Amino acid sequence: MPALFNIPSTVIVGAGASRELAPELSRRGLARVLLVTDAYMVSSGLVARVVGDLAAAGITVQVFADVQPDPSEENVHAGVALLQSSGAQAVVALGGGSPIDCAKVIAVLPTNPGPISRFMGRHRVQKAGLPLFAVPTTAGTGSEVTKVAVITDTKRDVKMMMLDGHLMPTVALVDFELTLTMPAPLTAAVGIDTLTHGIEAYVSRLATPLTDPLALSCIRLCGEHLETAWREPGNRAAREGMMLAATHGGMAFSNSSVALVHGMSRPIGALFHVPHGISNAMLLPAVTRFSIPGAVPRYATVARTLGWIGAGESDWAAATVLADGLEALNRRLCVPRLGSYLASNEMRFREVTPKMALDALASGSPGNNPVVPSADQIAELYLQAW
Ligand SMILES: NC(=O)c1ccc[n+]([C@@H]2O[C@H](COP(=O)([O-])OP(=O)(O)OC[C@H]3O[C@@H](n4cnc5c(N)ncnc54)[C@H](O)[C@@H]3O)[C@@H](O)[C@H]2O)c1
Ligand SMILES: [Fe+2]
Repeated sequence: MPALFNIPSTVIVGAGASRELAPELSRRGLARVLLVTDAYMVSSGLVARVVGDLAAAGITVQVFADVQPDPSEENVHAGVALLQSSGAQAVVALGGGSPIDCAKVIAVLPTNPGPISRFMGRHRVQKAGLPLFAVPTTAGTGSEVTKVAVITDTKRDVKMMMLDGHLMPTVALVDFELTLTMPAPLTAAVGIDTLTHGIEAYVSRLATPLTDPLALSCIRLCGEHLETAWREPGNRAAREGMMLAATHGGMAFSNSSVALVHGMSRPIGALFHVPHGISNAMLLPAVTRFSIPGAVPRYATVARTLGWIGAGESDWAAATVLADGLEALNRRLCVPRLGSYLASNEMRFREVTPKMALDALASGSPGNNPVVPSADQIAELYLQAW
């Protein structure tokens, strides 16, 4: 079947890329914008820097800094209200995946009647929204180059995944210097999210000849740079490598889809507020072991691309090294097991496991996995990861 491939029409990468925001807005004649961000970005001074750059170029900025981690529908509605009262012509997202995802839906809601749950799934946003300019500060979700947004429905405790070309940023400004402030635990969480994007994009049933090279590049860069970035936050080469990994991973998975790890991770985020990258990391070893029989040569290539096994070893040996190696990587990066992170919630976790398994299946992501699981198998995997 022919494969669709979308990325932003302009991507600017490298040290100082975020300084290109004002020129990119000006050359499109956009003089009034809504800046979607979070409280940390205000306290770090980055919002003031960006607002200053834009003001110097004659661009008026309305700041919306109330985005929470794992943004909710309420966050989107508050942002839309500000967008409409300010008369903004474009939306700028500054921050990690949370502000970028929130901004994506704020930008399309005025032209596409809600409720937001209508957009859940694939290709459900009918009309283009306002132009979106994305400046990521984590490395990362890759959201700056994806047509995906994840918004939490707090009434149903569901993280709604929506994928549509109309959610794609127009311009991505990918500046690794903005990630130098990430503390080690955040570097580990968002870095393993990136690695999971590379792996799931590569083993997905929807992988294409355009996504494979990007997915493998993402995996290789994570192998080279993730642990250094975690150990040495100021290491510019490692930060640059991880930022590129996030961008390549985003371009890959947004076009080939994520799979079972992400499908199972979202319900944990919705119900227990475990950060997205951490819940991915906790699930990745068990889900990889389960999925290997469906794509042994691909998992073997992942292990070789990470540099964890030589080219001469058999595919089975390489795939086995991968699953064990992912577990060891979690230990080295101090990622706790699910059971220790949620120890005080064990009863509730067991109670809601059947709901989480059904929500995971309903998201569609497990259907792209090399081995497509039943609800019972998903429930069993949650318990294995515990
Ligand atoms: N749309 C997509 O393609 C996509 C892909 C993967 C994940 N996601 C979603 O993205 C969200 C997670 O995004 P995230 O992992 O980037 O985290 P985040 O945006 O939720 O940020 C986590 C925390 O890190 C802080 N932070 C951000 N940049 C920082 C920096 N440079 N220095 C110090 N602190 C910084 C934030 O203020 C926040 O407190 C989840 O909701 C997840 O579901 C979306
Ligand atoms: Fe992710």
